[in-house]
Amino acid sequence: MVAYARSLRPQPTGAEETSFAADVRAGLRAPQKRIPAKYFYDETGSLLFERITELPEYYPTRCEMGILRDHAAEIAGLIAPGAALVEFGSGSNKKARLLLKAASAPAAYVPVDISGEMLAREAADLHSDFPHLKVRPVEADFTQPFALPREGEAARHKVGFFPGSTIGNFELPEAAAFLRHAGKILGSEGVLIVGVDLVKPAEILNAAYNDAAGVTAQFNLNLLTRMNRELGGRFDRAAFEHHAFFNRMRNRIEMHLVSRKPQTVKAAGETFRFRAGESIHTENSYKYSIESFGALARGVGWRPAGVWTDADGYFSIQAFRAGH
Ligand code: AVJ
Repeated sequence: MVAYARSLRPQPTGAEETSFAADVRAGLRAPQKRIPAKYFYDETGSLLFERITELPEYYPTRCEMGILRDHAAEIAGLIAPGAALVEFGSGSNKKARLLLKAASAPAAYVPVDISGEMLAREAADLHSDFPHLKVRPVEADFTQPFALPREGEAARHKVGFFPGSTIGNFELPEAAAFLRHAGKILGSEGVLIVGVDLVKPAEILNAAYNDAAGVTAQFNLNLLTRMNRELGGRFDRAAFEHHAFFNRMRNRIEMHLVSRKPQTVKAAGETFRFRAGESIHTENSYKYSIESFGALARGVGWRPAGVWTDADGYFSIQAFRAGH
């Protein structure tokens, strides 16, 4: 899930700086204040996220790794000899390694991530463990169109891999758009393997986002620290509280930063007013059923090709083939 984290980390370019500022200004002007979840992942946020994946309450990473280990041969059976494995938002490639090890003679691995330095480091490691595999990283925002490198394009079978339930951060229309976009990249012989977190009892979901050690709270509050550092913000972390809960009507975990008192705060060149109890909505993490996710994928041209879950049915890996 490290993987995922890195994938949504914004580019450290001047352009990105501006869009962070613009997103914060627009988001904090709205009646329900909001900031896109991708801004969690600065350096501190990425480290905090790695700690989250190791928390006893945070089941997704452990469940997904377990599924990949227990069913590696079967899942990797979807990767034909000579295929290219394209990972959307790779970051750390520990999950892809499990698939690559179990696959028979994959030709190429194409990790697509916005963080170029991470990609280069991980690619070098992978090359020493899989000397026959062509590792061809692409530095790009995987939600936008990008060109596959020659070795990826040349493979008849292109297999997309999108682990970590990163797809849960997307609103439904965005998730559908992503699945359609992946279909275009992977082509008529394409296969898609996605990690999808499942709806489950609210106590378990709530605990996963309200860990006893308070790491998720730090992860959420770090957004204030980031705005202070990068956007000249004047947020007092102690004046905000982490609030995460399962919204049953919408099948999603919501994370908010709740103002503990009436206050005005400067950030990104503007002043924003908060009422006591008013929140900044910082994340949605959608939970699906096997059926609801299958229906979403079928609706944009993917045929179900396999589903694997952990013994508790907390998390799923779902596979699809191109074509209705
Ligand atoms: C990386 C989006 C899958 O939604 O569980 C973890 C992010 N936020 N704890 C998730 C997250 C708070 C995570 N995803």
